[in-house]
Amino acid sequence: MYRDMSACNTYNYGDALYWDARYIQEGGSFDWYQRYSALRPFVRKYFPTSSRVLMVGCGNAVMSEDMVKDGYEDIMNIDISSVAIEMMRRKYEHIPQLKYMQMDARDMSFFPDESFDGVIDKGTLDSLMCGTDAPISAAQMLGEVSRLLKPGGIYMLITYGDPTVRTPHLSRPVCNWKIELYIIPRPGFQRPPGSTSTKSFLEPTPTTEKGLLPAGFVLEDPDSHYVYVCRKMDQTTDLSLHQVGDQLICS
Ligand SMILES: C[S@@+](CC[C@H](N)C(=O)[O-])C[C@H]1O[C@@H](n2cnc3c(N)ncnc32)[C@H](O)[C@@H]1O
Repeated sequence: MYRDMSACNTYNYGDALYWDARYIQEGGSFDWYQRYSALRPFVRKYFPTSSRVLMVGCGNAVMSEDMVKDGYEDIMNIDISSVAIEMMRRKYEHIPQLKYMQMDARDMSFFPDESFDGVIDKGTLDSLMCGTDAPISAAQMLGEVSRLLKPGGIYMLITYGDPTVRTPHLSRPVCNWKIELYIIPRPGFQRPPGSTSTKSFLEPTPTTEKGLLPAGFVLEDPDSHYVYVCRKMDQTTDLSLHQVGDQLICS
């Protein structure tokens, strides 16, 4: 179950054709990074079961199915891979709480503004960060996520990316988010014998004013995953993006 994106430079994770080929070849189901059972405390804390949730880049993960079993009533799943979406649509045609649409997370104009209470992203921003034009793709996707969230809504990002590589994207002015950070060990991690740590992974990790880990912070598991809980604040800036040279700016 545990896979990471350390092969980012070898595979084109940002390319729809890569994912289509992979889903044709592998079939079945697979959850990247973490299963719902491990993420449940965070999901239940931030998303009431009545929330309208968007799962961006659902792949063939069982996360959404597990959420429905846990009481969630309305989950829209999108993925750039038409192969994944067709497989999932067929698999879950008997579950009305789950809907599937092929869509690029960088352009979700099909949905009106403020359509969702919550957006969950497990590994999808990470995929875009492996593709060409990564910073532009990331800004486009995050701008769309912000547009689709209701004020007060939550974007939950589950990623292998630590704050030095993710906070610069999450804290751009296009997204007016208040961010909390959790750090959870990879599945199967066990504290070394003799460890005296009593730290709960369910407590948010304090960050600096710039959203980084404090100097000297030591990860218990060096291969930890990061859960960024980003709450959309009421006052959003104009979300339209303009490209000037290689810079994205807000109008
Ligand atoms: C690492 S997998 C994660 C799949 C699933 N969320 C999970 O947790 O197992 C990344 C997924 O993002 C999808 N993806 C990549 N680029 C995308 C884009 N621009 N728009 C929507 N989905 C995208 C891929 O097709 C793939 O299913």
